[in-house]
Amino acid sequence: MIRAVFLCHTAAPSGAELAVLRLVTALRRSGAVDASVLLTADGPLADLLRAREIPVTVHRNGFDSRSLTVAGSGPARLITGALELARLGAGLGETLRAGRADVVVAQSTKTLLMGAVATRRAGIPLVWQVHDRIGADYFGAVLAFGLRVLGWTVARGLVANSRATLRTLYTRGRVAAVAYPGIEDTGPVVRAPQRDPGAVRIVMAGRLTRWKGHDVLFRALALLRYRPAAVVLVGGTHFGEEGYRAELEERARELGSVVEFAGHTEDPASYFADADIAVHCSVLPEPFGQVVVEAMRAGCAVVAAGAGGPTEIVRPEVDGLLTAPGDPVALAEALDRLIADPALRTRLGAAARERAGEFGIATTADGVAGVLDRVTRGRAVPAR
Ligand code: GLC
Repeated sequence: MIRAVFLCHTAAPSGAELAVLRLVTALRRSGAVDASVLLTADGPLADLLRAREIPVTVHRNGFDSRSLTVAGSGPARLITGALELARLGAGLGETLRAGRADVVVAQSTKTLLMGAVATRRAGIPLVWQVHDRIGADYFGAVLAFGLRVLGWTVARGLVANSRATLRTLYTRGRVAAVAYPGIEDTGPVVRAPQRDPGAVRIVMAGRLTRWKGHDVLFRALALLRYRPAAVVLVGGTHFGEEGYRAELEERARELGSVVEFAGHTEDPASYFADADIAVHCSVLPEPFGQVVVEAMRAGCAVVAAGAGGPTEIVRPEVDGLLTAPGDPVALAEALDRLIADPALRTRLGAAARERAGEFGIATTADGVAGVLDRVTRGRAVPAR
């Protein structure tokens, strides 16, 4: 059995980390991969892993990953940050050797760098599981180029969370695959029928961070002909985004009392089951968009931003609607259309439930196990 170590630099329960939690659970269940998690920060993810009896090691260190951000760091900080990450990676190499790991799966750009040093020390291959589009719009042109080259150089395998993400990588001569982050089967969702136009509940789930586009939703709400009964924002602030939340609360007050803040939850399913419409409106192309699948699974009528992952999930007019990212007028039109027409919502919601069934975590685990198998096969057993 392949011993795979999944490496994460943050234990915040944000989208990518929850995807790892589900994946590692499914890999262990499949019996093909002995998956464990190595974290370089303690936090909620560690507890969630322990609750599922997944082996987790927290490698304590003085590095504050939040101090190194794409938007907030100048070139000097990026270079010293990179050196710190490399030093941290050297220490991890020993842990990998001791744990007799066969392969490391890096879960972020920071762990890509750490993992490169660590796997070199341990003499084992590195796989980069990519949750972000490595594009200039997100990272800036120079860093995006650097990360693509780094990934291609140090990783033997690349796993992307969508075709859109895969297209942003250099893959020549590497084992590369798309593995959509699947959701867990928690049994049939019980939901109420779609409500009348005057009673509609809208939910938007996502981290409270600017690129998720709450602003677009707020601007759309101000344009609506039909007033929804409630708009619930589900999502927390994990990476120093408290100021953004305060800003959103101020905007919500201006809009009147319809907007509610539900905060962070590991499982937004109950919010979706209680909502008629789910909105996704990221202004940058969403790498995948697990919340879109979760909303569909709960039978919501979904309107998502038509770029990146959601275009691979939603089939417009069949199981949801897509609108141009960053366009509040288009979003308002789609919402008015949905609010006014419960029959349309019912039809889209029913098809959405079917569609969501195609994004199961077992399929994700199969895809990832295939990549791990290929990168470790025929490899000389390293001296332990
Ligand atoms: C990141 C991406 C999101 C994706 C998740 C899981 O959070 O922003 O689109 O669904 O990773 O891969």
